[in-house]
This record gives sequence, C-alpha cells and structure tokens, in this order.
Amino acid sequence: MIRGYTSVQPIYMNYASTSPSHSERVTTALMEYLAQNRRVNVGRNFEGLAEGGIMLRARHALARFFGAPGASQVIFTSGITVSLNMILWGLLKPGDHVLTTHVEHHAVARPLTLLQRKGIIDVDFLPCAQDGSFDPQVIKKNIRPETRLLVMTHGSNVLGTILPVAESFALAKQYGLFTLVDTAQTAGLVPITLDAHTDVLAFTGHKGLRALQGTGGFVLSKEAARQIEPWITGGTGSASHDLTQPEFLPDKFESGTANTLGILSLAAAVEDLLVQDLAALREQERQITRRFLDGAGQIPGLLVHGTGRAERSTAVVSVSSPSHDSAALARRLYEEYGILTRCGLHCAPLAHQCAGTFPAGTLRFSFGPETTPLDIDTALHALETLMT
Ligand SMILES: Cc1ncc(COP(=O)(O)O)c(C=O)c1O
Repeated sequence: MIRGYTSVQPIYMNYASTSPSHSERVTTALMEYLAQNRRVNVGRNFEGLAEGGIMLRARHALARFFGAPGASQVIFTSGITVSLNMILWGLLKPGDHVLTTHVEHHAVARPLTLLQRKGIIDVDFLPCAQDGSFDPQVIKKNIRPETRLLVMTHGSNVLGTILPVAESFALAKQYGLFTLVDTAQTAGLVPITLDAHTDVLAFTGHKGLRALQGTGGFVLSKEAARQIEPWITGGTGSASHDLTQPEFLPDKFESGTANTLGILSLAAAVEDLLVQDLAALREQERQITRRFLDGAGQIPGLLVHGTGRAERSTAVVSVSSPSHDSAALARRLYEEYGILTRCGLHCAPLAHQCAGTFPAGTLRFSFGPETTPLDIDTALHALETLMT
C-alpha cells in the first residue's frame, strides 16, 4: 500500500452504476453520424437509409455477442429496467408463481412485488448466503405446479457475487420453467449467452458494454417470444392496416421512434468488445479486485462483504464499519481524496438483508478497465486513514 499519496485527479470507482467512458470506436461512430446532420425515422422510409443500417448493424453485433440465432431476436429498449418490466408484465398470467433470488435489484424485485400486490402472481425470493451466493438446489424445494418463471441476476450489484445461472436454469428447465436473466452487472465482463436453458437475456448498454446511457434491450428465443405479450404497443412502421401489434420480431416488442444515436453507440461498443480479448480484460479486473480485497481485509475495523474471492465475483466490493457511517465515508473519500464510490442500499435492499447490512447499507467500490493498481492503493490508503 502506498502511504502518504494524495490523488489530485478524481478516481472513478462506481463502474457498477455506469461506465464513465466509451471506446474510440463509439466516439467516431457518433461524431460521423452527428456530422452528417441528416435524420430519418427507422422503418418509416426506404430501408437502406443510414438509420435502417444502424439498427441492423447493432442487431447483428448484439446477436453475435449474446449468441442469439438471428438478428431479429435482438430487441432494443431504453435500458434493462424497461426490458425486465416488458418481460415480466408480458409473460406472467393470473395465478402464476415466480421464483427469484434474495439479491435482486429493484428492476426485478419491484415489478414482481407490484404484480404480487395486484393479486396477479405469487413470488418467492429464494434465500442466498450472507456472501450472496446461491444454491440452485433451493429451486427444487420451492417449485409448485403453478411455478412459471425463474428470474435471476447474473451478478449482485451489492456484493459482486456471481450467481450460478447456468446450473439454476438447467434445473429450472427440468421442471419446464421459463427463464430470464438480468445481466446488468455482467454483460461485457463475464461471459453469458442465450442458450438452450435461457429463454430471455436482458441487458443494459451503459455499464460493462460501455455504450450510452438510455440504451439496452433483450435477446430471446423465438419460442419465448411467442409466450410474451407485447407490454408496450404502438407504431412500428409495419402492418399499418392492422390495429393489432405485429406478431413478428422485432416489431412485436419495438414500438415508437428508436433511439438511433444510443443504438449506434451500442453497435460500436459491442463491435469493439467482439474484437477484444475479453478473457484478458476479465483477468485484469480480477487482479485489481484481488488487490483491493487483500488490502481492505487488513484495515482494522473494516468489514468486507461478499465472497472475498475475486474469481467468484465481479469487480464490485462492498465494505462497512460498525463505527463509521458509509455515507460519511463516501463523502470524505470524494471531498478529501477525489474518489467516487457509492453508498447506501444500491436499489437492492434484499441483498443487504442477506449480508446483514440492512438498513444502514454499505460503501461500494466498483472497478473497471481504467482502474489502475495505483488507484486501488490510493483508495486503500484513503480508507485506512479515514477509519483511524
Ligand atoms: C443487477 C441490476 N439490474 C438492473 C439494473 C438497472 O439498470 P438500468 O438502470 O440500466 O435500467 C441495475 C443497475 O444498477 C443492476 O445493477
């Protein structure tokens, strides 16, 4: 640990919330598009015009990245919160029972709670261990004849713990459940694809994929698409004689004017990821996380939550202290050391119940491709100083 070092530059350690930067390829694509200063509306003109090409380019990139068999199986939304709502409200029917986990973000937990309060569904939030880990065998014990869906996050945004989605979905499929994964914390960081056991994979653009905010979507199998009603309906520029929403993809789930600029940023960002060595990037983040975990574990009075093992987590680490308020620590880290973290409950109170950090919450550090070993040492030194 470097002692006596004070950073003069802000150090961003809130990647779990949003990526602060995008790649050169994204900048170039956006600048070229804006410099043309000519726009049309996708699907309301002759295809072949620039916007139609942007949508197609993005669909192909995302289909490749997430292993969707066809480009039309990629649906764009304004982010994963909207994607998850579209699936949950469009899929679930009165009497359905849903299984989910105890580390879900509000983007899953709140729509499910609302559906339950309206008397439409019943939900079980399956237990996770204190470190956020989840045992897929719990699924079996909670399945009922009316269980329809297993929805789970791939990575906890509070504890960083990676959940066993593949094993859980394989088990769920033995019982004929519909499966939906929230990849907000892992897409672009931990490999995950649409496979035989995954019906829908929801993603957000502005975190690990490093596209603009207000972008996201979902990829789904054709069979899954048949089971989901469109939750948002409206103009698609197709089948306009019909007052009913088209059944074909992607129009079934894409109404209204698309966010072309955002979708272009997604296309370029994902094309960039497709040519990068993601395993090497993941290893770099693991090393950074390990460095932080090793140092934080030695700071007297500091509690480190999660698995404590970089290979079982994303680059997210929550800490707390019985004698220090996490909001006060976050403020001092920013004001005195220029270190940007996030404190509180991180829109996932259930995860804090698992970790024993509810309602006070935690101070969360999350790292990304630009985080250096020096940044980690600076943060550790600052934390240690503030704790004394
Ligand atoms: C696990 C998880 N799911 C969903 C979301 C919601 O993402 P967005 O705000 O991009 O819709 C987040 C955001 O932090 C998250 O961490």
